[in-house]
Amino acid sequence: MSSKTLLRQLAKTADGPLEKAVSGDPKLYWDEEIAAHEEDAIFRQDWVCPGLAAEIPNPGDYITFTVAGDPIFCIRDKEGAIKSFSNVCRHRMMQLLEGSGCTSRVVCPYHAWTYSLDGRLIGAGHMERSEGFNKKEVCLPEVRTEIWNGWIYVTLNPDAQPVAEALAPLHDVVSRYGMENYVPVVREEHVWNTNWKLLTENFMEGYHLPVAHRATVGAWFPVEKTVFPEQTYDAFTYQTFQKIGNATYGHAHPDNTALEGDWRITSVLPTVFPTHMYVLAPDHLWYLSLRPRGVGQVDVRFGVAIAPEVDAMLGYADERTAWIDELTEFFEHVNTEDRQVVEGIYAGSRSAHAAPGPLSWLEREIHDFQKYLSRRLSAKGV
Ligand code: FES
Ligand SMILES: [Fe+2]
Repeated sequence: MSSKTLLRQLAKTADGPLEKAVSGDPKLYWDEEIAAHEEDAIFRQDWVCPGLAAEIPNPGDYITFTVAGDPIFCIRDKEGAIKSFSNVCRHRMMQLLEGSGCTSRVVCPYHAWTYSLDGRLIGAGHMERSEGFNKKEVCLPEVRTEIWNGWIYVTLNPDAQPVAEALAPLHDVVSRYGMENYVPVVREEHVWNTNWKLLTENFMEGYHLPVAHRATVGAWFPVEKTVFPEQTYDAFTYQTFQKIGNATYGHAHPDNTALEGDWRITSVLPTVFPTHMYVLAPDHLWYLSLRPRGVGQVDVRFGVAIAPEVDAMLGYADERTAWIDELTEFFEHVNTEDRQVVEGIYAGSRSAHAAPGPLSWLEREIHDFQKYLSRRLSAKGV
């Protein structure tokens, strides 16, 4: 089947009602031409999320990331603003920073060209005989960056709609939690053997929770309490759900005075297209941010942050470390459950017998995602 036909099929499901929707064609998840088109039409156009602003709280703190395969780093400057720059040296293209950390200046590990926190070249040894070289004219290209409710978003697209506009209706739902005050406690990097879209789709639907996650987040999860927004949005989708009974995580701490009524036991599960997804609960949040690595692998950034009341309760003793270790272990367990599923689906999608199946009403967000993919990947571009 050609890419054009694949996209026509996708458009047919996306434009129809959820009641008639089916899952994506298997080839959609491993077709190289579709992947190349996604890079241009999605990853070079839309906002992606390197993490939480609170993960780099002090001047000089940085995290690295890639956008459409392009290495960047986000760094907090001396004035406290977060900026993002190309992570490629202007001398001979060495990658400047790795992982995350704190630095007073960015020094290239190859020949020590040195950049200030605002990307200007401030040091370059033995260049006095290079004609026309003026370090004052050299600067790392800046990458557009916006902070929204505590999240860092970056894009290569100068014309992308501002995040605050694109996510305005989501702000109305999530702002009550004050997630910009949540305290990051974990960030990990993983590579999973699946297509990025299968992981996005898996994260946003609650249908699998009572089954694939019965040992973890599937407990205390009343499926019938799942609520979806009335309309679909261009840049995101979400659902809300509740944690009942004596759930280990997911309820407001007694010192939380901001959330009222059912919101004290309600979590929001937003997916900001294409690859930023999180569970925002009254006491914690955990997120995934994905980057495709070819068709059959995906880089997964996984992070956890806890509500300030929970953080205050923990103090600084060993007890805190033990509590955070236990929480991390819990969500790592959840990730392992998901990993088995999405790697299994990817393997299944390569079968000659694989075929799209009908969606449940609980998979409404997969249908929203199909609409998004169809809008971005309209057959014209292939
Ligand atoms: S490549 Fe960076 S200093 Fe040479
Ligand atoms: Fe899951």
